Amino acid sequence: MKFLVTGGAGFIGSAVVRLAVARGHEVVNLDALTYAACLENVASVAKAAGYTFEHADIRDREALDRIFANHRPDAVMHLAAESHVDRSIDGPGAFIETNVNGTYNMLEAARTYWTGQGKPETFRFHHISTDEVFGSLGPTGLFTEDSPYDPRSPYSASKASSDHLVRAWGETYGLPVILTNCSNNYGPYHFPEKLIPVVILNALAGRDIPVYGDGSNVRDWLYVEDHAEALLRVVRDGVVGRSYNIGGHNEASNIDLVTRICAILDERCPENAPHDRLIRFVTDRPGHDARYAIDASRIGKELGWKPSVTLEEGLARTVDWYLANEDWWRPLQERQGVGERLGVSA
Ligand SMILES: NC(=O)c1ccc[n+]([C@@H]2O[C@H](COP(=O)([O-])OP(=O)(O)OC[C@H]3O[C@@H](n4cnc5c(N)ncnc54)[C@H](O)[C@@H]3O)[C@@H](O)[C@H]2O)c1
Repeated sequence: MKFLVTGGAGFIGSAVVRLAVARGHEVVNLDALTYAACLENVASVAKAAGYTFEHADIRDREALDRIFANHRPDAVMHLAAESHVDRSIDGPGAFIETNVNGTYNMLEAARTYWTGQGKPETFRFHHISTDEVFGSLGPTGLFTEDSPYDPRSPYSASKASSDHLVRAWGETYGLPVILTNCSNNYGPYHFPEKLIPVVILNALAGRDIPVYGDGSNVRDWLYVEDHAEALLRVVRDGVVGRSYNIGGHNEASNIDLVTRICAILDERCPENAPHDRLIRFVTDRPGHDARYAIDASRIGKELGWKPSVTLEEGLARTVDWYLANEDWWRPLQERQGVGERLGVSA
């Protein structure tokens, strides 16, 4: 198949690009190369036959029309987004422009192209979204595909808005859409402003490891390569108009997660142990959702997908990847806002 992947120079998009190319698919990687992007993430496939990079912004409708017309994809996998909750608190405008208006542009460009092709039933517009659209859970319960939307941050509200647009384009225009809502991802190439890389890199540098609030917030962690595998299954075999929740069956509180990473680092770098002495509890994120947890039984039953990497194994692999790839993460720490406390201005 020929995929148009948006956001393919980011964390999850690049995992999708690498896997799709490895499976022999053609891939057009469309990315605006914002602060969160890194073309190194796709360097391993950059010279592969069938891989093309398009430096373009999803807010630019003309560019999108040109790219659809030139490349004639069989399916779109739409991942491009502003993705950092803390940045959405300080500057929500960019999240509305990219996640809402940009998704609208993608839908319209896809609809124009698909209509021009005679509306092939096999076309797919796969929108990649987050479990954060469902809001915050108490100590029990899981998000299903039928959970009501209840976004509580500018980021999750912008993603929820984009989900609604995608469903509306499916219902109103018949565009063959499909959606996925996934839990927190982690793994190689995770941008160094997100929790797990912050913990690893601060611990390595002997700097304080910030934990928001009392560290009790629970997330369901999924290894990024398992997510990429799930997405390729959904875009190929998923039922049009349906959404699929994707999760890792790996719930952990933030403090538990941080402590586990410190324990792995104690083994790898015993000279600096114990790393958990660096943990500092800091002012909580405003509106910090207490718990996310996913019921991923639909994708399991219908598409036979399940996560293959346990949290224990994935965290060890991730720590080892950061230890081996300083050339990748060191320059990214110089980018604007990285390493600063963001999202406390509310
Ligand atoms: N990271 C997670 O844990 C997680 C979980 C569930 C869903 N998601 C969703 O998956 C997608 C990818 O997340 P990620 O963590 O890889 O994000 P990321 O921030 O690492 O990457 C986003 C990519 O999108 C590109 N981009 C941003 N604005 C753009 C624009 N206007 N035009 C074109 N490209 C643009 C960036 O340059 C970057 O390469 C997002 O839609 C996010 O909402 C993420």
